[in-house]
Amino acid sequence: MPKIRASAVTRSFGRGPRTVAALGPLDLDVDPGEFVCVVGPSGCGKSTLLRIAAGLLRPSSGALELRTDATHPAAMIFQDYGIYDWKTVLANVRFGLDVQRAPRKEADARAAAWLAKLGLADFADAYPAALSGGMRQRVAIARALAVEPEILLMDEPFAALDAQLRTILQDELLALTQATSATTLFITHSLEEALVLGDRVLVMSARPGRVIAERRTPFARPRTGDVRSDPRFTALKDELWELLRGEVGRRAPDAGPAPASGEGAAA
Ligand SMILES: Nc1ncnc2c1ncn2[C@@H]1O[C@H](COP(=O)(O)OP(=O)(O)OP(=O)(O)O)[C@@H](O)[C@H]1O
Ligand SMILES: [Mg+2]
Repeated sequence: MPKIRASAVTRSFGRGPRTVAALGPLDLDVDPGEFVCVVGPSGCGKSTLLRIAAGLLRPSSGALELRTDATHPAAMIFQDYGIYDWKTVLANVRFGLDVQRAPRKEADARAAAWLAKLGLADFADAYPAALSGGMRQRVAIARALAVEPEILLMDEPFAALDAQLRTILQDELLALTQATSATTLFITHSLEEALVLGDRVLVMSARPGRVIAERRTPFARPRTGDVRSDPRFTALKDELWELLRGEVGRRAPDAGPAPASGEGAAA
């Protein structure tokens, strides 16, 4: 039984002539412990897919099911952080544990440990307003990982981070997901990131996003970031980029006039 199963999921926004078909139809099975990365052009419906998976949005048709038990829920990391400005950094990271009614002392200790791992130990009592964008993103990551989720839904979690920190956190996430056998659905603009992390990489079409290609990565697990220097890595990256390039800049049939420049490009 897959942990995540999407069956002919579609989503559109708005009504009548202004309806925007954002996603699908899309089918997807993610097996227990599998790490699936999704790449696709900007606006193709990736965040929409993840929000549906997280139960924050209903599909217009089709169904998306997650299988979890009550003690290890799914956790989602949003593209735009989704952290609470009125809570301290520590309270933000503790949030998921509070929801699970973990004892306060234990929750504080676990939250503090995750803050330390992400280089934020000195900011436990600060409020998010005092943090940089990358630091806020790390708070969101710490919050999601602190609950040791069975399913991780991650929407470009490392996009706002500098290259070094991004590499460090990719390696951390690899170690963590391999140690806990979490099932992960991970969205990224970076093919390199998708290939380092994923067992499978799915390429989505321009809006409405469907899966147009799928590649299994040939790197054994447990793996580390060393796969970056594997010759097969570069070959796969080139192949996927060719596929993706065809979609970037392709216009949806219901799209308005073409943008002046640059819009819709995958970074
Ligand atoms: N709440 C909403 N109301 C109306 N339209 C929406 C809403 N959410 C998303 N859309 C539209 O659906 C389409 C897909 O959006 P989505 O955010 O899923 O794209 P994305 O693939 O995550 O893009 P990016 O890579 O830029 O984050 C876009 O055209 C967007 O404008
Ligand atoms: Mg998005």
